[in-house]
Amino acid sequence: MCGIFGYVGTKNASPILFNGLKTLEYRGYDSAGIFIPEAGVLKTVGVVDGLLEHIGSNFFGTSGISHTRWATHGVPSKENAHPHGDCSSELFIVHNGIVENYQELRDRLTKKGHTIVSDTDSEVLAHIVEEHFLRTKSLERAVTSALKEVRGTYGIAVLSKSDPNTIVVARMGSPIVLGIGDGEYFVSSDASAVLGYTKQVIYLNDGECATLTPKGYRIFTLRHKKRTRRPTDIDWDIEEVKKGGYEYFMLKEIMEAPDVLADSARGRLVSEKGMARLGGLEDVKGKLKHVKRIVITGCGSAYYAGLVGRSMLEAYTGIPVEAELASELRYRSVVFDKGTAVLAISQSGETADTLAAIRETKRHGLLTLGIVNVVDSTIARETDAGVYNHAGPEIGVASTKAFVSQLEVLALLTLFLGRMHGMSKKDGAELARGIARLPKKMDEVLKEAGRIKRIAKKYSKYNNFLFLGRTYNFPIAFEGALKLKEVSYIHAEGYGAGEMKHGPIAMIDKSFPTVAIVPKDSVYEKMISNIEEVKARDGKVFALASRGDKKIEKLVDDVVYVPKTHEALTPILMTVPLQLFAYYVGVMRGYNVDRPRNLAKSVTVE
Ligand code: G6P
Repeated sequence: MCGIFGYVGTKNASPILFNGLKTLEYRGYDSAGIFIPEAGVLKTVGVVDGLLEHIGSNFFGTSGISHTRWATHGVPSKENAHPHGDCSSELFIVHNGIVENYQELRDRLTKKGHTIVSDTDSEVLAHIVEEHFLRTKSLERAVTSALKEVRGTYGIAVLSKSDPNTIVVARMGSPIVLGIGDGEYFVSSDASAVLGYTKQVIYLNDGECATLTPKGYRIFTLRHKKRTRRPTDIDWDIEEVKKGGYEYFMLKEIMEAPDVLADSARGRLVSEKGMARLGGLEDVKGKLKHVKRIVITGCGSAYYAGLVGRSMLEAYTGIPVEAELASELRYRSVVFDKGTAVLAISQSGETADTLAAIRETKRHGLLTLGIVNVVDSTIARETDAGVYNHAGPEIGVASTKAFVSQLEVLALLTLFLGRMHGMSKKDGAELARGIARLPKKMDEVLKEAGRIKRIAKKYSKYNNFLFLGRTYNFPIAFEGALKLKEVSYIHAEGYGAGEMKHGPIAMIDKSFPTVAIVPKDSVYEKMISNIEEVKARDGKVFALASRGDKKIEKLVDDVVYVPKTHEALTPILMTVPLQLFAYYVGVMRGYNVDRPRNLAKSVTVE
């Protein structure tokens, strides 16, 4: 996730900015840059250390802004790296967030004669500030006026050559922390980068701006109303701050689910038309109109996301869809028919088997698509077209927030393809409404964390688990079992509930609990019958059910309720309690859930 760091004071800013960027490295990034008004701009692709060789004694100044970029719009490159300047390189900005209406703004600015050199959504901010700066001559006024034109999220810092001692910052949706020193002030995306200099911080709220000079700071709203805020003293160490106060990245990333759902759908839903706008698929729209069959592929959690996608796409597009493990697909000898599209799902975009499957199917001349989180990764580059998740970097090895975003992107893809293939406007509008409401509902799911922790404590002593689900939640049973295996090393099996009687039921007794995913959906009654079968054999059952379901309470041992949603979206809300369950059991058993033994985040070997 992009990181911002800025300094204004009396010392040489370049080593301070460099150290700030080093501390922000853990957030994940692919390029970096620094602007010091008296010295100029430095940018590098790859690691922050790439800036070091240029930071000589002549790269000097007492203020500056800097940035680590995690690509969302446009590949990692020097042009796309921040800071971004205006036409005359008078002012520069660093930005964290997504400008939803950037295309509109870009078109308008280009028509007016602005030269925009990058593919980013962020650069337009520099040019709008420029327009207002020329008019108002005040950077502060220019920033607030410019931001009124922006739809989306931002944490930004702006600095100009004509007034190098004033940094203007603003926040809407992306974090901005001010570090209050003695005659020096800092701005950062998180407190970890300022901790080496001061423990006094102020977290800006959405809609707040601030001006920092060596003499002090001022906080005000976008409408220039003064805000008085007292700095707080942070006594966390740097590691704690990086984890946002959570014990593990896994928990932090699970807790990010509502934001991830908002970010992955940002600017993509056309709710009133019951449609989705997916820019990355525009070029292949013609081919997608005539697609006859879809094969979804991936590994691990990404494959399970694919299984959910299969149900969604088949239900609303009428196109036959299959999901196949990438490690199997690459060796299947079927000759795919023309008219088949292959969709690879991968968080990292580097998984060897998924990449090989894509290369193999490309060899057959098929259309290849990707749902990838890491921009410009190999799979993103090698597929013909695709959709980025915008979930931000995931540090915990076992996928959590990326999986949630994969499911949401598949729902968006269902809208996109569905409306081309006979999905009614009414059905489209219903699904779009469901997607738009997901972040709020996910907030409610996360409120159950305490209850899930108590349940996890009760179950953490068992050594075997069965996870059951059907239809849309059949793959979530697999994913729930996988999560538990990955972080707690407990034996867990996912099964389609209807298949239980063909084997797994033999294992059930009072020492072999079952986790059942039972939303009030079209197979609810069937799930209830399967749970009865477990109970009849003395098995303990922990159920995830829809809020308001009184019947289930009487049947099972423990239940966590999740809000009702569109049937196709139930896997998104059901998966997070299972992530939390696995997390708590793993921690209670004393394991480092961020780095499970024998596992790798990105598996680049076969
Ligand atoms: C590894 C990770 C899993 C992930 C899988 C696929 O096994 O530990 O969490 O689901 O790779 O990774 P990808 O980057 O292709 O989504």
